[in-house]
Amino acid sequence: MTDLAALESETLAAVAAASDEAALENVRVAALGKKGSISALLATLGKMSPDERKSAGAAINALKDRATAAIGERRALLKDAALTARLAAESVDVTLPVRDAPFETGRIHPISQVMDELTAIFADMGFSIAEGPDVESDDYNFTKLNFPSGHPAREMHDTFFFNPGPNGERKLLRTHTSPVQVRTVLSKTPPIRVICPGRTYRCDSDQTHTPMFHQVEGLVIDKTAHLGHLKWILEEFCKAFFEVPSVKMRFRPSFFPFTEPSMEVDIQCRRSGGEIRFGEGDDWLEILGCGMVHANVLRNCGVDPDEYQGFAWGMGIDRIAMLKYGMPDLRPFFEADVRWLSHYGFRPLDLPSLAGGLSG
Ligand code: DAH
Repeated sequence: MTDLAALESETLAAVAAASDEAALENVRVAALGKKGSISALLATLGKMSPDERKSAGAAINALKDRATAAIGERRALLKDAALTARLAAESVDVTLPVRDAPFETGRIHPISQVMDELTAIFADMGFSIAEGPDVESDDYNFTKLNFPSGHPAREMHDTFFFNPGPNGERKLLRTHTSPVQVRTVLSKTPPIRVICPGRTYRCDSDQTHTPMFHQVEGLVIDKTAHLGHLKWILEEFCKAFFEVPSVKMRFRPSFFPFTEPSMEVDIQCRRSGGEIRFGEGDDWLEILGCGMVHANVLRNCGVDPDEYQGFAWGMGIDRIAMLKYGMPDLRPFFEADVRWLSHYGFRPLDLPSLAGGLSG
């Protein structure tokens, strides 16, 4: 017959050594489970004589009771220890600041922000928004804008062309937003006052050029529009956009096939220590091209240049965004790096408005 004392001390030692509830359960099964060592002893009672059973039964049952009690005590202890450990591991420091909700951590890209800002400014002046497709015809991107075929100005645009279609026509990615002028004049009757923000494409890439960039075109057509109006609009825009009380602008003669006369516009600034400030200083910075819409462009779009006249401008959105928000390199704009975006991006609920302050 098994030595009950040895079995008891072996079982109690195993109970004491069990370091967690799973280990303790294994000990319980090994002793008291269906095939456990103590259960096996109980099963031998049936084959004993009544006298033997009397003494052995009492001893085995007493062993079973002590083992059960020891296991119960150990389980309560381990449960307690596990709970204490879990509470320590999952403790919450209620003095920590609340983490931002997802809609608070998301950021508006500076380009989207600047588009909203300039839209707010021009909308306030009575302009509406026009849009056109990124994939354009050669006719709208060049020919109707008075770029004769073979003219060197076409080469300067570093155009991305598509393969010719079934009819031999070669579509292209628009190299500027000026084709939206063509679309607008063809589809509306003057007076016209629109801005056309959007993506543009040229095969060019360095610190200040990317193959895809953004422009905003402006167009005014009526019977009396003149350069004085253009100058006032651009000046008011720059003051509102750069949020300065005054800004000096310089109009330099230039050439664009679709305007006559044509000008490039610089704004006064001061560069110091890698920073640019507007409305002061002796430096000049080019921000846009403009001019009076060429009579050929009006004619190409079905408008009589003897009755109507107008002016237009084209401005680089990325450029003015870099200037206003002090971003020295254009390439990260398009790298989708959330660290850059969380630094330079804008809070989504701070919508730019002239009344509320443009950049919050
Ligand atoms: N489309 C020109 C460019 O991308 C910019 C431009 C200049 C647009 C003069 C105009 C304009 O509307 O009048 O270089």
